[in-house]
Amino acid sequence: MKSICLIGFMGSGKTTVGEVVAKLLHKPWVDLDHYIVKQEDMSISQMFREYGEDYFRSLETKYLKEVLKNKENVISMGGGIITVPENVLLLQEQTVIYLDYPFETLYERIAEDKNRPLATSYEALKERYESRKQLYENTCQVKINCKGKSINRIVQEIISKLDRIS
Ligand code: S3P
Repeated sequence: MKSICLIGFMGSGKTTVGEVVAKLLHKPWVDLDHYIVKQEDMSISQMFREYGEDYFRSLETKYLKEVLKNKENVISMGGGIITVPENVLLLQEQTVIYLDYPFETLYERIAEDKNRPLATSYEALKERYESRKQLYENTCQVKINCKGKSINRIVQEIISKLDRIS
C-alpha cells in the first residue's frame, strides 16, 4: 500500500485537490504544511522569519516521514518538498501526482499571498519555478496538465489515472 502524494509549485491547488481526492477515495487526508504548523504551533511565515528556510526544510522532512507511516493517506505537500533529495527518495516509494500549471497562472494566484514567505518578486519566483520543474517531473509517476481545467476535472483525471496504475 502506498500513500497518494500531490506535488507541484505554490498555487497549484494541492490542498484543494488533495482534500477532494481523499474524500472520494474514502482515505484520510493530510496537508503537510497544516500538519507542520499544528505540530510546531507556529505559522510557516514565522518559521521562515525567525529560523530561516533550512530550519523549515528540516521540519518538513521530519514530518514527511511521520505522515508516511500511515500508508493510506492522501497527502498534499508543500511546493518545496522536492528540493531535498531525501524527500525525493521517500516520495519515489509512493504514488506521486504532479499538478502542472504554466508559471503565469501560478503567479497570478500567489503574488499577493502574505502567508507564503517565498512569494516574492516575479523574477525570483520564476527562477524558482524553472529550477524546480524538472524535479517535479522526475519525482512524479503521474503528471496532470491542469491548465484551464476545473478542480472537478483535475480530480476526475487523477482518479482515473490512479485506477489505471493500481
Ligand atoms: C513552499 C511552499 C509552501 C510552504 C512554504 C514553502 C515552497 O507550500 O511549504 O511556504 O518552497 O514552495 P504551498 O506549495 O502549499 O504554497
